[in-house]
Amino acid sequence: MKTSNYSGFYKLSPAERLNEVAEFAGLTEEEKATIADADSLDIEKADNMIENVIGRFSLPMGVALNFCINKKDVLIPMVTEEPSVVAAASNAAKMARKRGGFTTSSTGSTMIAQVQLIDIPDPNYARIRILENKEKIMEICNAKDPVLVKFGGGMKDLDVRVIDTEEGKMTIVHLKVDTLDAMGANAVNTMAEAVSPFLEEITGGKAYLRILSNFAVHRLARARVVIDAESLGGDDVIDKIITAYHFAAADPYRAATHNKGIMNGIVPIVVATGNDTRAIESGAHSYAARNGRYTSLTTWEKNQDGDLVGTIELPMAVGLVGGATKIHPTAKVAVKMLGVQSASELGEIIAAVGLAQNLAAIKALATEGIQRGHMSLHARNLATVAGAKGEVLEAIVKKMVAEKNVRLEYAQELLKEYEK
Ligand code: MEV
Repeated sequence: MKTSNYSGFYKLSPAERLNEVAEFAGLTEEEKATIADADSLDIEKADNMIENVIGRFSLPMGVALNFCINKKDVLIPMVTEEPSVVAAASNAAKMARKRGGFTTSSTGSTMIAQVQLIDIPDPNYARIRILENKEKIMEICNAKDPVLVKFGGGMKDLDVRVIDTEEGKMTIVHLKVDTLDAMGANAVNTMAEAVSPFLEEITGGKAYLRILSNFAVHRLARARVVIDAESLGGDDVIDKIITAYHFAAADPYRAATHNKGIMNGIVPIVVATGNDTRAIESGAHSYAARNGRYTSLTTWEKNQDGDLVGTIELPMAVGLVGGATKIHPTAKVAVKMLGVQSASELGEIIAAVGLAQNLAAIKALATEGIQRGHMSLHARNLATVAGAKGEVLEAIVKKMVAEKNVRLEYAQELLKEYEK
């Protein structure tokens, strides 16, 4: 496999597909074996990851094809339980290739740690006192992570906000910390705890919560794409997609589902690379509501040439060091597959896949509807649950889809018939 644009990939067996991916990404035999082995995370490692471990839980890992991001072909590892997601992302990426694929950027890797200061009678005065002490605050915080500082990271800036709450005003300190290739939760939480006594000393208040914010507005990933009308199936499809986007942009009920579709693309890579899915979800949804009303994370417009143009921008607190990314053997290989050198690069790819996934979903919704594409995979799931295998499984899937009767009971009934 030389490019990510590979036709007939789906027709190969999982082992054949893995061979192609290994050739593309330069995986070693050992790395291939890790991907193929559902037990790559052994029970000892698992037992060190969380508490009260009793086993491990596998999910399918697929590969989204056709992605060209910043002029480079990439294969996207996706771990998900949801049928159609990998195929949809691959289709959208294929449409995007004609105009050069996805272009991405990001704002760097600065996380916010919040320190909540309460019991301050003069919170605005306290705010200025804190800002005056920025150098000292940075010194205390950076002393906690000399390695991060050595590599160019560490606390860089400070914000102080006075907020109104049910129990009066509170002074909220934001420590802005560049965590480089780490997701950074540990680093920033340690700093927030370490600096709290000094903040209490200079304000006379009490430091209460000390924790990072997942509303990571200084760690945004962005992607944009141009799609020509022909690849989409006509000019009218562009207008339909834009109308679908306007619905999401205007209505939180629709935006929730529109953004869920985006997360269908984002979360599987976050899982595959051993990152924290909840951090990404909460960052995405808080960003979608940043202007006081929950809205779409993407935009879709028509450019001067009549092409469809799309963008996405969202917080992307992912890391390449620390956490499960370095412990889970399959996550390590997934990172190698992506060929990324920095957490920002990983975040940008994730944003591009979110944009692709959104395009695939709203295109389907705005044209033929979502169910047709879903049906055959859903039928496959049900036939598998019924216990069908091999040729019998294929026959049952075909019959259920042709008859538009995709139910578990019917799959079971058909299986009985075939077994006779
Ligand atoms: C289903 O998992 C995701 C969609 O509902 C997304 C959307 O509605 O845009 C199809």
